[in-house]
Amino acid sequence: MKKQIENLIISHGWKDVMIYDLNKIEELYKKWHKLMPKIRPFYAIKCNSNIEIIKKLNNLGAGFDCASKDEISKVLNINKNPDNIAFSNPCKYEEDIKFALKNDIKKTVFDSVEELKKISKINRSKFELILRIYANDKKAKFKLSKKYGAYDYEWKELFETAKDLNLNIKGISFHIGSGAEDKKIYKKALKDSKNCLELAKNYGYNIDLIDIGGGFSENKIEEFSKSINDSIEEYFKNIDINFIAEPGRYFSETCVKLYTRIFGKKERKEKFYYWVSDGVYGCFNCQLHGEYPPSPVFLTKMKSSKKYNSTIFGPTCDNEDQILENFNMPELNIGDYIIWNNMGAYTIVACTDFNGIDQTKPMAIYIEDNNLKYRKNIV
Ligand SMILES: Cc1ncc(COP(=O)(O)O)c(C=O)c1O
Repeated sequence: MKKQIENLIISHGWKDVMIYDLNKIEELYKKWHKLMPKIRPFYAIKCNSNIEIIKKLNNLGAGFDCASKDEISKVLNINKNPDNIAFSNPCKYEEDIKFALKNDIKKTVFDSVEELKKISKINRSKFELILRIYANDKKAKFKLSKKYGAYDYEWKELFETAKDLNLNIKGISFHIGSGAEDKKIYKKALKDSKNCLELAKNYGYNIDLIDIGGGFSENKIEEFSKSINDSIEEYFKNIDINFIAEPGRYFSETCVKLYTRIFGKKERKEKFYYWVSDGVYGCFNCQLHGEYPPSPVFLTKMKSSKKYNSTIFGPTCDNEDQILENFNMPELNIGDYIIWNNMGAYTIVACTDFNGIDQTKPMAIYIEDNNLKYRKNIV
């Protein structure tokens, strides 16, 4: 299969190519189900909204976390059942709330008085609201709590306001941060959820849904799931609650490889500089937030094992558009490909065509069972 893919790429001379292994998604889904059978995943499509990923996860039985009208439409085109969607953006455009309402989506999130007022102006009765509470893993790659999540001293006012506005609160959610590291934070967040659930009762709200958000990655899932299962047992024993989660990175990170093509080269005093077909305005955009790229893998068979100090630039004229610097690697040539593993999460979804260079529509190859198919990747 690997050889077949490489022949396909080389024979077409494609610039950059994303390889989606849909078998891997199935493997990850089964692993999730085995480790956390009671927690239904609602895939966060913001992480990679590639249609084949959505279709695959839909066939496997996942629901979807959407952040906007466009994401909702994308999912509804594949599965018409609105109960499979959680509209989990705590701060939404009015027109998007109206769109969700028109499409019978009930689950939506809030964490402020103003959002409650906005929702109540549009409709008081249809939504089953979910209160997002604060949770924070300080070591997470993306600390979403900087922006979202109500502090415990704010819950009371939120319940009071919801009561005054005659709104219906059914759930509690949190997100400890994307690319999380510390399993203990789930325990703390579940304990906080329990306290919040108890407070809700004082206002006549009977919470029956807890959404444990995202933060998962493939190499952490065992330890995280253990902490989550143990905490559910500790805090929610004999309480009738539906648990859901919103994993993004867990499903899409490791199922994608990116092939980039070298189209420029310069040698200066035994140092090499290469220009490749993708960079920080493309799939490597997370480097602008301080994330490191994965290690490169080389497709070309090397004639010599000698390594040189090398720099790899992206295709735009911006000097910041650089993937690696002072990296020891063999000498490569124009036309050679460099492969990057684990490139599916928060990559293609945030690309731009800065400098008029197309980085938003790379070629995509899909592996499913023993079959290959390819077409432009548009998210
Ligand atoms: C509300 C919400 N849910 C889920 C996710 C997905 O998080 P992760 O990719 O860490 O699983 C995000 C990421 O930003 C988010 O904002």
